[in-house]
Amino acid sequence: LSVKKELEKILTTAPSHEFEHTKKDLDGFRKLFHRFLQEKGPSVDWGKIQRPPEDSIQPYEKIKARGLPDNISSVLNKLVVVKLNGGLGTSMGCKGPKSLIGVRNENTFLDLTVQQIEHLNKTYNTDVPLVLMNSFNTDEDTKKILQKYNHCRVKIYTFNQSRYPRINKESLLPVAKDVSYSGENTEAWYPPGHGDIYASFYNSGLLDTLIGEGKEYIFVSNIDNLGATVDLYILNHLMNPPNGKRCEFVMEVTNKTRADVKGGTLTQYEGKLRLVEIAQVPKAHVDEFKSVSKFKIFNTNNLWISLAAVKRLQEQNAIDMEIIVNPKTLDGGLNVIQLETAVGAAIKSFENSLGINVPRSRFLPVKTTSDLLLVMSNLYSLNAGSLTMSEKREFPTVPLVKLGSSFTKVQDYLRRFESIPDMLELDHLTVSGDVTFGKNVSLKGTVIIIANHGDRIDIPPGAVLENKIVSGNLRI
Ligand code: UTP
Repeated sequence: LSVKKELEKILTTAPSHEFEHTKKDLDGFRKLFHRFLQEKGPSVDWGKIQRPPEDSIQPYEKIKARGLPDNISSVLNKLVVVKLNGGLGTSMGCKGPKSLIGVRNENTFLDLTVQQIEHLNKTYNTDVPLVLMNSFNTDEDTKKILQKYNHCRVKIYTFNQSRYPRINKESLLPVAKDVSYSGENTEAWYPPGHGDIYASFYNSGLLDTLIGEGKEYIFVSNIDNLGATVDLYILNHLMNPPNGKRCEFVMEVTNKTRADVKGGTLTQYEGKLRLVEIAQVPKAHVDEFKSVSKFKIFNTNNLWISLAAVKRLQEQNAIDMEIIVNPKTLDGGLNVIQLETAVGAAIKSFENSLGINVPRSRFLPVKTTSDLLLVMSNLYSLNAGSLTMSEKREFPTVPLVKLGSSFTKVQDYLRRFESIPDMLELDHLTVSGDVTFGKNVSLKGTVIIIANHGDRIDIPPGAVLENKIVSGNLRI
């Protein structure tokens, strides 16, 4: 009850032009918070989790083998590309939207996305639009940049996700005292995860507009996944299903490696496909969950969803997503929680959903500067906004790169490489401490460079390091 009162108080501080959307946001929050208070115990019963049946996760090769119809342009014209653009570049030490970080030849994530879709539209003479789901953290900066694409053959729409109040962990009351989100209120609000897409897309009116224009499916993905390009074979499978029964929801999954223990996996639960995240797994079963043999695949967050189905389910209030409780400590030391949802968790609410096991190349996320080093290097070549593994690399796998904390911020990382080393023959790179790389360095096999505290290692220009450990003054 006291939360309700606090929220009402906050709403009274909204200026009239912000009143309606603030009310919607706070109503949405109130419902989520109510569910959070009601829920007791784990959101899944481990005993009911089953391996998904054979035909519910199909290999991509099987989908591709069906080929493409002659009318692929008309199929493409029913597609909308949606990028999740609510996140900031904070974890890579950048201010502003993550999508505006330069990733390859001065191109940002957003540039690459626009180039990909423009290429598609020019090649097939289509009008596939791009929709960005922004948050209050990213909207202003993103919109400023969008002007730069005015002359591109891609229509770009944006809508804003909700803004929810962070909750004091002890009192369970909102931290915010009014609706502002600057000054001392900067940390009082948060975007409630990408599961918010269903409600905010619907509420923005854009969902209806796009349905009115004849659009039928959205392809949703993380803007920092450089492998998430429009795949015509998957699209064709959606629009022209072999059994005549259309899927309302397709989740692209890919095979787990030992490094992917964190990702959510698709399971069969009460007769439906369900995404299970590690946070939902009882402690006693975590190892079983992580095992690569029992749950072989994980969610890439590349999702294909029927617009009509989103509309129907949203109107029936029937989209059910587990609540993720994300604890945080604010700058001043206050412990808060934020309640979030994930877009893929809604799979269980849709009819006829399907997993497609795609090649690893469709999952190329850039979360750290170690990932950035790989995508900036000659391991990949750039073609109309898409990165593909260079044919010059002899092994199909990507090297394992671990850059230490002196490289965490993009600025520092860039300063430490005069040019990006040749990595075509690299298997494993570990760098720790104060290390810089001169121009045209080659890294091959396993290379480990460790500068101890107080030391600095400058790899000279043109150096070729092959199966080498470089540490302090000791060179082996
Ligand atoms: P995350 O930062 O959540 O990455 O953003 P993650 O931890 O790898 O992914 P998940 O959550 O487990 O899938 C993934 C994408 O979602 C957007 C980010 O901008 C990024 O593109 N995002 C995240 C939003 O748009 N809104 C949010 O509230 C959270």
